[in-house]
Amino acid sequence: MSAFKTLDDLGDVTGKVALVRVDLNLPMQEGTVTDDTRIRAAAPTILELSEKGAKVLLLAHFGRPKGERVSTQSLSMVVGAVEKTLGKEVMFVPEIAGPVVAQSIGILRAGDIAILENTRFWKGEEKNDPELVKAIAANADFYVNDAFSAAHRAHATTEGLAHVLPAYAGRSMQAELEALDKALGNPEKPVAAVVGGAKVSSKLDVLKHLVKQVDHLIIGGGMANTFLAAKGVDVGKSLCEHDLADTANEILAIAEASGCTVHLPYDVVVSKEFAANPPSLRTCNVHEVAADEMILDAGPNAVETLGDVLKTCRTLVWNGPLGAFEMVPFDAATVALAKTAAALTAEGSLVSVAGGGDTVSALNHAGVAQDFSYISTAGGAFLEWMEGKELPGVAALSA
Ligand code: 3PG
Repeated sequence: MSAFKTLDDLGDVTGKVALVRVDLNLPMQEGTVTDDTRIRAAAPTILELSEKGAKVLLLAHFGRPKGERVSTQSLSMVVGAVEKTLGKEVMFVPEIAGPVVAQSIGILRAGDIAILENTRFWKGEEKNDPELVKAIAANADFYVNDAFSAAHRAHATTEGLAHVLPAYAGRSMQAELEALDKALGNPEKPVAAVVGGAKVSSKLDVLKHLVKQVDHLIIGGGMANTFLAAKGVDVGKSLCEHDLADTANEILAIAEASGCTVHLPYDVVVSKEFAANPPSLRTCNVHEVAADEMILDAGPNAVETLGDVLKTCRTLVWNGPLGAFEMVPFDAATVALAKTAAALTAEGSLVSVAGGGDTVSALNHAGVAQDFSYISTAGGAFLEWMEGKELPGVAALSA
């Protein structure tokens, strides 16, 4: 991991203006924030800078308004939720650059916090326009990036600003980079990866990268069906991308050449309908799936074997569920393997890192999210990191 500056490298910031990029792309229903995880993730950085006496200006995007002011995507809507989580008053500024921001800074006292408007209301944000970068930077003394989950975007406020102002990683960015480095950058071996989810096509680059990095690749969910079918197994009516058979075989060949063992389920839970506790539910050998059945989860024997694999490993990186976990009983394999991983983490024998939207819900559902070594709140950025890509927002901090 290349070196980057953290808040520990800041000198006296009393009265100085900090531009802090956070991720406030929050789930909302009828104008109300339904999950404040990302605010809680950014809170330590915001509060630390405020306590140190900086004037803290938060920069963030919300949705994809594509360079237009869209009133339903104004960040004014999240001010209340941010105030509640921080336990502090927060000013809203309807601009991100120019005289209105300068006037607001004049009103703010040392330690005060303001949220600037949705950065994506300006076309220059997504284009990383140097003029917009200059205009935003003109009002500030330094820049802090605490939005790992937006670091895969080379935008003005996620990347550009780091080149024109003294730039620091916030506490959440720092924790994320340190945890990810332990999981794949510089891991203790053997390393296992769990990659699940519906479609191989959405995670091709992840799989191609991982088979060269890890000792064990555990494939689950609909993705496993595509691999099974490619190996000649009849998967019946299961979700399966038959047109990707060649790609799946290519990935298996790279794995073999790289010394990575790929684990596919050999017993499975099947049903004729996709419903909770369906009457046609049964567990069978993977070679016994009937033409009118769907594979909806890995079977108990496969899960036990996978648990034994994890016992031999020192590091685990997890993205995606092993079955259709949102429906009982097709959550069983994900829950059981997550519990094993959590227990091994508690014993100190495994470093476990997980990320991606569905994964976090699956681990919360299993009741073990807090027992993993680290859970990333990032979606797209976590996947790009699993693909081995350099994230522009992170690279700019290390430049
Ligand atoms: C996210 O919600 O994953 C990040 O905020 C990135 O959002 P984006 O996919 O719209 O760039």
